[in-house]
Amino acid sequence: MIRIRLPLPQAQPLFDTICSGINSRQGETMSNNLILFGSTLGDTERIARRLAELLPGETRVASVANFRMASLRDFDRIILGTSTWGSGELQDDWEGALGQLSGLDLSGKTVALFGLGDASAYPETFVDGLGILHEAVAQAGALRIGYWPTEGYAFEASRAVIGGRFAGLVLDEAGQSHLTGERLTRWAQDLQASA
Ligand SMILES: Cc1cc2nc3c(=O)[nH]c(=O)nc-3n(C[C@H](O)[C@H](O)[C@H](O)COP(=O)(O)O)c2cc1C
Repeated sequence: MIRIRLPLPQAQPLFDTICSGINSRQGETMSNNLILFGSTLGDTERIARRLAELLPGETRVASVANFRMASLRDFDRIILGTSTWGSGELQDDWEGALGQLSGLDLSGKTVALFGLGDASAYPETFVDGLGILHEAVAQAGALRIGYWPTEGYAFEASRAVIGGRFAGLVLDEAGQSHLTGERLTRWAQDLQASA
């Protein structure tokens, strides 16, 4: 008899990284934070990891490409990040996850969003992906924090502007990378203040 050995399916890692950011002490009661990102060329991923270092306590950083969306409910505070591609489209890895996200019951969960885009090359669809994520999170019934002023960005239209503010932190690595560090620090502080 010939026996054929089939390889066992590889378990996908649920989380890429667990970061212990500023102010984390052993024994401290820590909230359960997640940063979930979709990134094509690595910009949004890099920002997700920088942000994790700025948040107190333990923060898990994961790509949405291999994340089970139902496990979002396991986290108290959730940060979702995306870039925008095509003409105002959500980053590819979010496509499958978006329907699942809007179908979840995230009432009682706190969600903050961040988006990357390029205002000078795409002024009419600037960070539209962030707006698309916001719509899904609103449908899921989450408490949304981390809205961000539109001052300091030169764009014509954006689906991410909700009631005169951006639906979350907006970063432009192509034209305004010199402002990224300062924006990240301020936003991380804002999130702590809304905790
Ligand atoms: C083909 C292409 C299409 C893009 N479309 C948009 C767009 O519609 N709106 C926008 O704000 N940025 C747009 N961008 C800019 C990206 O969102 C930006 O470069 C981002 O930093 C990429 O992040 P990532 O590497 O995490 O995917 C586009 C970039 C490329 C190359």
